[in-house]
Amino acid sequence: MKAVCWHSAHDVRVETVPDPKILNPRDAIIKITSTAICGSDLHLYEGNIPTMESGDILGHEFMGEVVETGKEVKNLQKGDRVVVPFTIACGGCFFCQKDLWSLCDNSNPNAWMAEKFYGHSPSGLFGYSHLLGGYAGGQAEYARIPYADVGPLKVPDDLEDDKVLFLTDIFPTGYMAAENADIEPGDTVAVWGCGPVGQFAIKSAYMLGAARVIAIDRFPERLQMAQEQGKAEVINYEEIDAGEALKEMTGGRGPDRCIEAVGMEAHGTDAMAAYDKVKQGVKLETGRPTALRQAIVACRKGGDSVYSWGIWWLGR
Ligand SMILES: NC(=O)c1ccc[n+]([C@@H]2O[C@H](COP(=O)([O-])OP(=O)(O)OC[C@H]3O[C@@H](n4cnc5c(N)ncnc54)[C@H](O)[C@@H]3O)[C@@H](O)[C@H]2O)c1
Ligand SMILES: [Zn+2]
Ligand SMILES: [Zn+2]
Repeated sequence: MKAVCWHSAHDVRVETVPDPKILNPRDAIIKITSTAICGSDLHLYEGNIPTMESGDILGHEFMGEVVETGKEVKNLQKGDRVVVPFTIACGGCFFCQKDLWSLCDNSNPNAWMAEKFYGHSPSGLFGYSHLLGGYAGGQAEYARIPYADVGPLKVPDDLEDDKVLFLTDIFPTGYMAAENADIEPGDTVAVWGCGPVGQFAIKSAYMLGAARVIAIDRFPERLQMAQEQGKAEVINYEEIDAGEALKEMTGGRGPDRCIEAVGMEAHGTDAMAAYDKVKQGVKLETGRPTALRQAIVACRKGGDSVYSWGIWWLGR
């Protein structure tokens, strides 16, 4: 089959690789019909995630059609259309029993590596380094789905791929950020970053009761989408100081809830941002918390600031 393979930072190639096979009775093989590139794939592309190996197949946002099932997979049949969550979960451990699927204790065979870096290990993930399991990803023609009796979600025939693909990761991530922000009816919510996570966080904030959403980025087309489709007011932080603008737009009080949907490669123009870049460059920190810092500072007294990236794993 053809697959997108990572070789090193900035070196990603479409290559012919062996087709996946059923390895365990709870596996299924799916033929991929749609797949996406996530902002998180940029961290792999930039070489910021340790334990990637040359030839690793990328992709954790995908869906498709079941072509084969292991003998213990009773809930899926050949021909079923499924969306596959990016986190792999056994369904039976302490965390799965608490619906904390992304923290599954059984799906990461390399948990010790993650523990070394981060203290605890999350679940295994598709296409996201060896410290998160070394599983082949879904930017490919086929993928092996471990614990296929737990994760995949059957899709009704009348829903097109484009309507459900984002359930794999990016929509729940934006939604969870808004949920964790404990939005109250009438709140003003500020969202840093207008990438896919930010766009879904904007929509989710309104769904959860926000009266106003203010979105911040520097790319005009992303701000335009936030404005037109998300109904957000927008700030281009390259044109005006976002912190000052937010103060002004909220009568000096600051937004009630602040959501950071930017991530570890935040862009910044001030001295702190330059300092963050140097620290990241010499591996003294893994991310650049420029936007996160702004969100915490801008939030009104007694408000909530949350970050969207990594919440599936690190908690709030
Ligand atoms: N489940 C998860 O934990 C999960 C899922 C998806 C994405 N993520 C993470 O969430 C983050 C966002 O994902 P995405 O796909 O939307 O990424 P993206 O890279 O498409 O979007 C990030 C946006 O932030 C903007 N930005 C950069 N610096 C900024 C600043 N200082 N202020 C305001 N905006 C700024 C960029 O211009 C860009 O438009 C990434 O770090 C990604 O890894 C986590
Ligand atoms: Zn993702
Ligand atoms: Zn589990």
